[in-house]
Amino acid sequence: MMRNKTKKLQGTITVPGDKSISHRAIMFGSIASGMTEVGNFLRGADCLSTIDCFRKLGIQIEETSNRIFIHGKGLHGLTRPNSILDAGNSGTTTRLISGILAAQNFTVTLTGDASIQKRPMGRIITPLSQMGADITSINQNQCAPLLIKGQKLHGIEYHSPVASAQVKSAILLAGLYADSDTSVTEPFVSRNHTEIMLQSFGAPITTSNTTAKITPGSKLSGQKVEVPGDISSAAYFLVAGLITPNSEILIQNVGINPTRDGILKVIKMMGGDLKLENLRIENGEEVADLLVSSSQLQGIEIGGSLIPTLIDEIPIIAVMAAYAKGRTVIKDAAELKVKESNRIDVMVQNLSAMGAHIEATEDGMIIDGGFPLMGAHIESHLDHRIAMSFAIAGLNASGEIQISNPECVDVSYPNFFKDLASLQI
Ligand code: S3P
Repeated sequence: MMRNKTKKLQGTITVPGDKSISHRAIMFGSIASGMTEVGNFLRGADCLSTIDCFRKLGIQIEETSNRIFIHGKGLHGLTRPNSILDAGNSGTTTRLISGILAAQNFTVTLTGDASIQKRPMGRIITPLSQMGADITSINQNQCAPLLIKGQKLHGIEYHSPVASAQVKSAILLAGLYADSDTSVTEPFVSRNHTEIMLQSFGAPITTSNTTAKITPGSKLSGQKVEVPGDISSAAYFLVAGLITPNSEILIQNVGINPTRDGILKVIKMMGGDLKLENLRIENGEEVADLLVSSSQLQGIEIGGSLIPTLIDEIPIIAVMAAYAKGRTVIKDAAELKVKESNRIDVMVQNLSAMGAHIEATEDGMIIDGGFPLMGAHIESHLDHRIAMSFAIAGLNASGEIQISNPECVDVSYPNFFKDLASLQI
């Protein structure tokens, strides 16, 4: 993948549908009664893995170009699959579906690709087991493949050691089937799409501070869900517009849920020229059009409760920091080590190769920005967010960059390179 220094980026784009919301629409639609219709569904490999799993669990799911129709069979309508369930590269599929499978009256094996088989599943096995689930890590390493034998579950009050929407959602979904209320308290609030969407499907769910609580017993009803554009995908173009001279990019229809909008706060803190237009609420989710222009950026400190609201954007924030003046410190982000790749090590390795001044810390990284970046060979480690971050980093480097396995962007943004090219005039 070759990129030359870019003179200017200009134009209007829409990014594909939100990955987190697309997964949840398939899952909740499958265990709701009646039809769920999903518009602007993300047809990326991760969400297609979720569709594949629910089809194997006996759910009829129809696809037109970007609308999905799910013939939900109710909370107890899933049936035993004839084969292993494969979540591909998707942590969201693996962890959320485990919460549902833990409560069924059949046994399944759930696995995924090489990356998934290294990601920590103890974080869901522990709380689900406290609820009475029978989940075994087949290789006894607290990773997939998982053998899940459905059981009757009990409600728990769980205090999660990590702010993770995947952990929270797995427990809340299991809680739908439990014999009493289930609550999850997190150190900081993680993305709340599960709470918003489950409520719209009719589940009694309440939230207060960092706690979400679900009461079991009521059925879910199929809904119409319109998925907003994914802020995590928009982030690449926001940063592209900020760090490239003479640029202005309008990104239409982006979800700006306050539990996901940390990237917008960081851009403003760094002095970026960003405007939010046409603010509205759809399906309980805040949505806006985002307009960015080239800006001189300043290094900042990022940590604490901000981290879960921008966890997937840290690779592109590191790129932005390399183009900013002064020091950026990212802390409280040890979760980066257990994403699709170890995103602390991989960012340090690749940004260093481009000549950036960056060092890893225990729970983040420190970047001294403003040094010129040059072409390099970039190792994506098959991590979509690494590949996209370096496509943007390369726009303003002197010399060419080569990204290994750029097709891994298919996981969340199959048309990424085409959309990026459309802005280069
Ligand atoms: C997601 C939650 C986050 C995020 C992932 C999607 C979700 O993971 O990194 O890309 O849809 O719930 P964690 O919950 O593990 O932080």
